[in-house]
Amino acid sequence: MGSSPKAVAVGCLLAVIVVSGIIALILAAVGVKGVYLPPGTKYGMVFDAGSSHTALYIYQWPADKENGTGIVSQAEACTVQGPGISSYAENPANAGASLRACLDKAMTIIPVEQQRETPTYLGATAGMRLLREQNSTKADLVFAEVSKTIQQYPVDFRGARILTGNEEGSFGWITINYLLETLVKFSFAGKWIRPQSAEVLGALDLGGASTQITFQPSGTIEDNSTKVFFRLYGTNYSVYTHSYLCYGRDQALKMLLAALRKAFSGFYYTFYFLNLTNGQPLSVINATIWGFCTKGWKELQASFPQEESHSRLHNYCPSAFYILTLLHEGYKFDEQMWSSIHFRQQAADTDIGWALGYVLNLTNMIPAEAPEQVKGQQRGLWAATIFFIVLTAAAALLAILIQCLWNPT
Ligand SMILES: *[C@@H]1O[C@H](CO)[C@@H](O)[C@H](O)[C@H]1NC(C)=O
Ligand SMILES: *[C@@H]1O[C@H](CO)[C@@H](O)[C@H](O)[C@H]1NC(C)=O
Ligand SMILES: *[C@@H]1O[C@H](CO)[C@@H](O)[C@H](O)[C@H]1NC(C)=O
Ligand SMILES: *[C@@H]1O[C@H](CO)[C@@H](O)[C@H](O)[C@H]1NC(C)=O
Ligand SMILES: *[C@@H]1O[C@H](CO)[C@@H](O)[C@H](O)[C@H]1NC(C)=O
Repeated sequence: MGSSPKAVAVGCLLAVIVVSGIIALILAAVGVKGVYLPPGTKYGMVFDAGSSHTALYIYQWPADKENGTGIVSQAEACTVQGPGISSYAENPANAGASLRACLDKAMTIIPVEQQRETPTYLGATAGMRLLREQNSTKADLVFAEVSKTIQQYPVDFRGARILTGNEEGSFGWITINYLLETLVKFSFAGKWIRPQSAEVLGALDLGGASTQITFQPSGTIEDNSTKVFFRLYGTNYSVYTHSYLCYGRDQALKMLLAALRKAFSGFYYTFYFLNLTNGQPLSVINATIWGFCTKGWKELQASFPQEESHSRLHNYCPSAFYILTLLHEGYKFDEQMWSSIHFRQQAADTDIGWALGYVLNLTNMIPAEAPEQVKGQQRGLWAATIFFIVLTAAAALLAILIQCLWNPT
């Protein structure tokens, strides 16, 4: 029984099918590894409604967290056009409308599928505190209008309210320490760690209408109203915070502080203008401020022709004295402690305020997402596997065609 050419061809093809099929199977089985997809990104938004203006901050953090807390970064900051929301006491609807441009911008930054789960929060400070004191109905109306506007956007709105001075201080403390890398740091080994050597810093916020001091005391805190507890990146922090309202009966001080608030970050700006933000000793600061304040008005105008607005030039001297008195007489900073004060407006290109600290603490409550695991293969192996699968299929097809259609006579 001689083998026909057809039987030979089919036999050869079957051999090819078996061999290449086995190779494909082996290739598919070896070198397959479980790989983690990079974690998704979570977003959060905070309106910082200050007395002179409102800013919207958009933050983001990787969905897998570090010991329970997110590594938060500022994705975008948008300054709301117009004055602070407390200035809209007479026509609250406009307070809501003023936020639209920034909200529209935020919607272009946060991916559509994540907008509904983006926690959004409006916190107001000094300006609204004052308005509430004057007429709480008016303050409520402003909050109602801004809430109405934010609710028209597809976000997870968590409410609009006035922050307490202690919240402002303690969230500001988180912001500072986070930005200056005393809470968490990216190590050379490529991991986030708690820096062992770094000392947690205290924070002084010299705001316009109130001033906050926050630090981690060495002893225990007796008064519970000044104690704030945070658990960040797996470490417990118990900090002391106290807020002093600057608005007293003193009309002159009131006017000075009101004027300072119109210069953004008035206190930082004053010391920056006097070139005193480089950690100079107390004696130099004293001498500089006295030297500046005892100059004649004509002389001052001549020395600083670039200061077009002379009302600002008017304010540097009283403002500098105010800071000096507050730190020296009020907080009792001595010569040695002065050298450890750093005046900052921004750190790591991020605005210093309570907003970042607020979101950072908030990430503790937002569940982490376990990174997704998928099966993966090296590109070369994968290509070879595909080649042998195609070869097997082609040989099988050819074998079927020969078996059915080839009829040698
Ligand atoms: C507070 O504001 C409301 C609404 O504008 C007004 O009707 C009311 O008279 C004000 N109350 C006081 C005490 O000024
Ligand atoms: C997380 O906790 C571990 C164990 O306490 C610690 O070694 C590590 O530094 C912490 N990570 C961060 C980012 O703080
Ligand atoms: C930190 O605080 C938590 C409560 O949030 C507590 O369960 C834990 O024991 C504390 N850890 C330390 C080391 O004090
Ligand atoms: C500011 O102070 C620093 C150090 O104290 C000094 O080197 C610098 O020249 C000063 N700049 C001006 C413009 O006075
Ligand atoms: C920080 O977040 C926790 C939830 O993780 C919350 O219970 C706590 O009230 C927040 N702290 C402040 C000061 O709001």
